[in-house]
Amino acid sequence: MKRTTTLTLGFIVVVCLVVIALMANQLRSNKDQAAESPETEAPTEKVAGIQHNPPSMEDVPDGPEGEAIKRGHLLFDDTSNVLRSEAASVEDGIARVNELSCTSCHAGAGTDEGVSSMVGMSAVYPMYIGRSGQMVTLEERINGCMVRSMDGQKFAADDEDLDAMVAYLTYISEGIPVGAELEWRHQNTIDDLPTPDVDNGEKLYQQSCIACHGESGEGTGSNTGPKLWGDGSFNDGAGIARMTKMAGYVQKNMPVGQENTLSDQEASDLAAYILSQDRPEWGNHDKDWPDGGRPNDIMTKERRDQVKDGTINWDEVLAKPEK
Ligand code: HEC
Ligand code: HEC
Repeated sequence: MKRTTTLTLGFIVVVCLVVIALMANQLRSNKDQAAESPETEAPTEKVAGIQHNPPSMEDVPDGPEGEAIKRGHLLFDDTSNVLRSEAASVEDGIARVNELSCTSCHAGAGTDEGVSSMVGMSAVYPMYIGRSGQMVTLEERINGCMVRSMDGQKFAADDEDLDAMVAYLTYISEGIPVGAELEWRHQNTIDDLPTPDVDNGEKLYQQSCIACHGESGEGTGSNTGPKLWGDGSFNDGAGIARMTKMAGYVQKNMPVGQENTLSDQEASDLAAYILSQDRPEWGNHDKDWPDGGRPNDIMTKERRDQVKDGTINWDEVLAKPEK
């Protein structure tokens, strides 16, 4: 009995030491990253045996914690319908959130390994984000997607729905140690994009994308073929409104069922076509990347107009930001 207690205590001490060491390391590399790379980067460390293996929703425990996880899952998977149906008025609902769900981009409610998976997020945040120029908590990162990708409003800091989202993301991150390097992160990007041909992008779009996303990008449903442009889609402050990210996302994940079949050129053409269509504008471009390193490939209203009147300089758009 005594021997077991000593062993257990010993084990707990060792675990605590490991956690403290990992956290210290994370803080250190956060600082390094902040100085080195103003772009979003992960304060991570290789840990052997990390697996993308989120637990099933069927195994959610009973009780208040379980209820929060289920609410978080519902909010993540059906964001627009849930938040709009619970808003005080139709207008409030439209202002609250666009017509997408988090699943529209983070497939399988964030558990699809290839499609911007959310597994492990509770283990890598808080971290430094260049776009914000500061340390960002998981709550703030969720709100980042709420105001950009979801073109809506933040959850208030004391909103139980925000806690529910975090509870869900923590649940699917079970077993991932703090600060671990996640191989499935940041995969959806093409850093060296060929100069796009927008007309060819349109042709490809009409061939390969309209079945699910509609002829005019209007979509067929947030989880079957989300809106790609126009009112109700993401605004131009979203990560995916950047050429490199849109092209990477499309190449790795689209068309659903034929992933990884598009060449870099085709992905570039498609990204340029989609991102030259009208969409909601982000009001705070001038406040992003306060410490420098702003990427050049953000497709703002000015750029969309340049595509329309033929004055766009793609070399400038695709140039790497100076560090
Ligand atoms: C229109 C597409 C889109 C939608 C919708 C969207 N996101 Fe994202 N999200 C992204 C992209 C793109 C990134 C950046 C991924 C990268 O850098 O590889 C991202 C990143 C994130 C991250 C940080 C990931 C990391 O590895 O650091 C979190 C957390 C997140 N999103 C949560 C959400 C939540 C919660 C919702 C719903 C409220 C949501 N997102 C809706 C596109 C989207
Ligand atoms: C068979 C249906 C289907 C086809 C065909 C398809 N998509 Fe998708 N698309 C989806 C689904 C479903 C999602 C939501 C994420 C997921 O489940 O992978 C999605 C998500 C997206 C997103 C992110 C969400 C958003 O609102 O921006 C983009 C961008 C996208 N698709 C572009 C394309 C492009 C470009 C093509 C053609 C090359 C294409 N898709 C073809 C079904 C499809």
